[in-house]
Order: sequence, then C-alpha cells, then structure tokens
Amino acid sequence: MSGTAPWWRSAVIYQVYIRSFADGNGDGVGDIAGLRSRLPYLKELGVDAVWINPWYKSPMADHGYDVADYRDIDPLFGTLEEAEQLIEEAHRHGLRVIPDIVPNHTSDQHPWFQAAVEAGPGSLERERYIFRPGRGSDGSEPPNDWVSCFGGPAWTRLPDGEWYLHLFAPEQPDLNWQHPDVHAEFESILRFWFSRGVDGFRIDVAHGLVKHPELPDLPPVQGPRDGEAGQRTPHPHWDRDEVHDIYRAWRKVADEFPGNRSFVAEAWADTPERLAAYVRAGGLHTAFNFNFLMTGWDAKDLRSVIDDSLAMLGAVGAPATWVLSNHDVMRHLSRYGRRNVKGWAPSERYEPEGPADLELGTRRARAAALLMFALPGGAYIYQGEELGLPEVEDLPEAVLQDPIWERSGHTDRGRDGCRVPIPWSGRSAPYGFSPEGATAAPWLPQPADWGRLSVEAQTGDETSMLELYRTALRLRREHPALGDGTLTWLDAPDGVLCFRRDPGFVCVLNLSAEPCPLPPHSAVLLASGPLENDMLAPDQAAWLAA
Ligand code: NOJ
Repeated sequence: MSGTAPWWRSAVIYQVYIRSFADGNGDGVGDIAGLRSRLPYLKELGVDAVWINPWYKSPMADHGYDVADYRDIDPLFGTLEEAEQLIEEAHRHGLRVIPDIVPNHTSDQHPWFQAAVEAGPGSLERERYIFRPGRGSDGSEPPNDWVSCFGGPAWTRLPDGEWYLHLFAPEQPDLNWQHPDVHAEFESILRFWFSRGVDGFRIDVAHGLVKHPELPDLPPVQGPRDGEAGQRTPHPHWDRDEVHDIYRAWRKVADEFPGNRSFVAEAWADTPERLAAYVRAGGLHTAFNFNFLMTGWDAKDLRSVIDDSLAMLGAVGAPATWVLSNHDVMRHLSRYGRRNVKGWAPSERYEPEGPADLELGTRRARAAALLMFALPGGAYIYQGEELGLPEVEDLPEAVLQDPIWERSGHTDRGRDGCRVPIPWSGRSAPYGFSPEGATAAPWLPQPADWGRLSVEAQTGDETSMLELYRTALRLRREHPALGDGTLTWLDAPDGVLCFRRDPGFVCVLNLSAEPCPLPPHSAVLLASGPLENDMLAPDQAAWLAA
C-alpha cells in the first residue's frame, strides 16, 4: 500500500473491553491503570490502535453504554487525568487511541434526562428525548409497537403518565436527534476528546440515531428489501438515510484537528451497499463489517461477502474492515466450533446449534485470522481472540450481569460469556488479571483451565494462537502487498478460497472436507497448522510467497 495513505485505511485495531482487560487496583474490574500497564503487550502484539469500550461516568446499567457524563471517566475505571496519561503513553508506544462514543442514548442519570423527568410533560427539557403520551383511552398502552434490543417494549412510562423511548434498556433513554441541542452537545464532546489527543471514535449504534418523525408501528415484514428490486422500505428507526447528515457534520469536526482523526461506525446495515453509505466521501471513514462477522464457515458465502464488501466500499473510495468477534457476539472460536456454522442476519441474535468442539473451533479460528489479516483494508481484534479464548458458555446463572438476561425473562443468557476477564499469567484465577493481594475476585468467574491460555503460557510457544497472531501481524506490517489495496481471486477447488495480493503474496484457505494441494509458490510464509507434503488440511490456511 502507499506510504502516504492515512493510517485508518489499513489499521489493525485491538478492542479493549476495559472491564475485562486488566485490573490495576485489585477491585476485580479492569481499569485504565491496568490498560496502561499492558500497553507494552499491545505494542509487541503488533496492533496499530486500541478501541476502548465506554469509560465515561456511568451507573453501569449496560456496562458503560449508559453514559451520565461524557466528559469524565467513571471512578471504577480511573480519572480523567489517567485517561490523558493513557493517551499520551499509548502515543509514545506508537499506538492510537479510539474511545467509544454513545450518541443514541444517555443514561437515565444524565443531567438532561433528570431535568426532563423533573420538568414534566410538555416541557422543553423533554424535547431532547423522545417522550410521547400512550395509546388507549387511558394512555396505558405504549405509543407504538417498537421493541427493545434487550427484550420487551422499547417504551417505559413515568409516574406522570408519559412514555419515553429506549431502544435498549429503560436506563438508556434515546435522544431526540431532531433537536439542535443534541447536535451541538455531541460536537462539543467530540472536540473535548479530540483536544485531549484521541485519534478517533467508535460510534455506538451509529445506524439508530434518526427515528421516523411520526414514530409509526414497525412494518409487517422487517426485511432488507421489500417489493421491487432495489426498493427498500425504510425502517422507522434503523439505518435511515437522514442519519448521514449527522456524520457529515461530525466529519467536519474531525477534520478541524490535525493527524487524521477518524471514525468507525457500529452500523448494523442489511447489506454491504447500505453499509457503504456511511463511508461515502464527506462522511465517516470506516465502518465495522458485520456482514463478514455474521457469515457462516462456508467458502461461497465468505467469498461473496468479501466481494460485495470490497465492491461496495471500493465504489465510495472507502477501505474495507474485517471483524470476527466483539463484546456483543459469541466468540468466533466457539461459533466456528459448531459443525453447522450458520450465518445470521443483523436483526437476529446468533443461536448456536449443539455443543462447541473447541479443537475444531481453534483450528478454524487460526485459519480465519490468516484470512482476515490478508484481506485488503483494516482489521479488528477483540481482546482474547489472540489467545484463542472460547466463549464461556457455562457461567452460572447467578453471576450473569448482562441486562439481556433479565429483560429476556431468562431466555437469553446475553453477552457475558464473551466478556470474561482475560488470563495473563499463572495457573489459577485471576490469572494475573488482578494484581497480587487483590481485594475482590474478577467480576465474572474465569474457567478453571484458562491457565493454559494465558499470555505467559503461550509466549514463546510457536504453536500457540498468540504467536500465530504476533507473526501474522509482523508479516502484515512488513509485507508490501498487505493492508489497503485490492485482491485477485485465483482458481481453486470447490470449498477453497485462494487469492493473490500484489506484489508476490497468496493466501489460501481450505474450507472443504478434503486436503488440497498448495498453489504454486516459492515459499510458505506462515501456515495456520502443520503442512504435510505441501497439502493444506481442511480448516487450514496458509500465506505464500508467489
Ligand atoms: C452496542 C454496544 O456494542 C452494546 O454493547 C450496547 O449494549 C448497545 N450498543 C447499546 O449501547
């Protein structure tokens, strides 16, 4: 790739779920002090930037995605001064810092919402949120039939009779993005953090900010397309075209600052084409490619999502990004450990079939990493995937904390299984997550066998997931063909993906049930497992010089 292209076109960004990354003060919850102490680890891993899940002052109804003060750090995680030190230290290590911004909703403890509750129906304060009278003769029915992403209705009624909208938990009231105060406030928050040196933002629920002004009931069939080809029925609150106006204004704010500040959108769009609209010229820089994450372990499906992503994003001049896991979905090692790895749609929660075969999942996760890092564009690593952590699927019900568990009436265990604190060293919990002499156990219990997956246990073991990631990221940095750019598919047997990146690089991934011969090459640069007689076993990938 060109040496002058901005960093975000090819960056490998490491997601720090701060509660579960490293606990500096021994209270069982990860924090900024812990993260600062592990910056050398991230540097050595070879990533370019860290995205940090919300660290702002919050009552933690949704672990920080309910923000009460966007200009301060929650005491659980540290102080504003520590955040400033972290940004500076990360920069010294050559790592960029991308906090999360949560513009769709605030906490119900945010001063604006508190004032709105206090001021009562009809007040100006209520206009910053989405308050409505109820339906039915006594207003006891919600204003419409929208549902919360965490289960149950998306509306809660206050004692004064009015209802307010929350697409997530009741503690997360949705802001009214038709109100100028909301625009002004978020642009000011962006400037607050950009002036403190952050390199960009991950935008939470980027596709949800704008609601249909009349708040109509949901359409009968919620599909990506309805009616004639190319005709899309706009959803009343997801991925509405008007949302892009907000981001064009945000782009201008980012461009006020030197150093290529950038945004990444969390936008669950139905198609790569809809996703590309977020990253058109003058809009956001990048967006998570969830279509890739949601694709099953299938050569045709993967190839088609790769082609569509590159075509749609390329058409608007944006780089692709690739992501396999995050703090909201089952870890991919456990998804891929199912014999039948289905894809799923943005409107669904992933439902695994049968128990995971972790040996199979590990083999596929190793191969998937080589695929992801070889594709054109940027890539995301969710903390712990470089250690080969599986989803913890057997957390006792008594420890579950995700609001989804309660809101679903205990039918959906929620997302805690991918959020278990990660193991650093030692043979028993807390595996170096908390310091010696910690006063509390990790906020979620760690499995008894995670000592073998710790950073310490894997370091120097050439067969480990960690060393595979380290080597892949080193090669990616050094190889002129990798990062931003294009790819060319090469002929391959059914079930095998094989593509070339110029100059001189080939990636091959065997998703079939049969071993396949490696394509012509002058050297094997890296393989996800042992190669015998130049054959690639099922669920294996290799990088070749060719
Ligand atoms: C998406 C975040 O990734 C998720 O963790 C959160 O619960 C919702 N947005 C609501 O903010």
